[in-house]
Amino acid sequence: MTTKKPIGVFDSGFGGLTVLKEIVKQLPEYDYLYLGDNARAPYGTRSFETVYDYTLQCVKQLFAMNCELVILACNTASAKALRNIQQKDLPTLAPNKRVLGVIRPTTEIVGNFSKTGHIGVLGTPGTIASNSYPIEIEKFYPNLIVNQEACPMWVPIVENNEIETKEADSIIEKNLNNLLSKDKNIDTIILGCTHYPLLINKIKKHLPDNITLLSQGEIVAKGLVDYIKRHPEMEKKCSKGKTIEFYTTDSTINFDKAGSMFYGKEVKSKHLEL
Ligand code: DGL
Repeated sequence: MTTKKPIGVFDSGFGGLTVLKEIVKQLPEYDYLYLGDNARAPYGTRSFETVYDYTLQCVKQLFAMNCELVILACNTASAKALRNIQQKDLPTLAPNKRVLGVIRPTTEIVGNFSKTGHIGVLGTPGTIASNSYPIEIEKFYPNLIVNQEACPMWVPIVENNEIETKEADSIIEKNLNNLLSKDKNIDTIILGCTHYPLLINKIKKHLPDNITLLSQGEIVAKGLVDYIKRHPEMEKKCSKGKTIEFYTTDSTINFDKAGSMFYGKEVKSKHLEL
């Protein structure tokens, strides 16, 4: 019997399910293992050290569950932990395994969407404070002008299922106005948090029609298709049995209920103690 070697997809909670959904659409033949650290979410307001510590623990867990390739489907973890994990931990921990994030695939293509050359980024306080988006965008498109806005309440709005409330509307409107008041020429906005696709209708309502919104699910999935093509050794290692397992560090009842909303299909999770 061959051992299952699923592709690991990690998020602080539910947000990564919006990414997993697109990955499975584009690469349906693989086995997947999703881990949501719901018991310790949100990560967005936590310190660099804490996010790094929690993320590394989850990556080790996914490695122990036979994942050769792990996607950090969380901007906060990608911004605060990925570089350290790739450069400091992987060489000793598991030199042949790989961990990829969501920021790079997004920054690689953002320039294709903007006519004005003015970009907006929305994210958690942690992602925005890390400056990861402006730094990464500069590497690919040094002429783009990037302005950011931290949206500390957007993840709690989604996690608490308060999307359809008046308060949500006014918070979202305020953050978007703040961003546009920093730069009136923005024509492309990156939703730099995997929770935000759930708010897309509200966001669109408060933005002029000429602004393009970039959600990460499809972009990250395309990036992974490309990565796998360029890395046949990894392609061979990942098993292809079309299974998807969901794990949460919190209650499975809550995960299954909210998770289905993010994943767009029924989700049945197992509890995992870290
Ligand atoms: N989904 C995470 C992200 O993409 C944020 C959620 C959190 O704050 O834990 O940044």
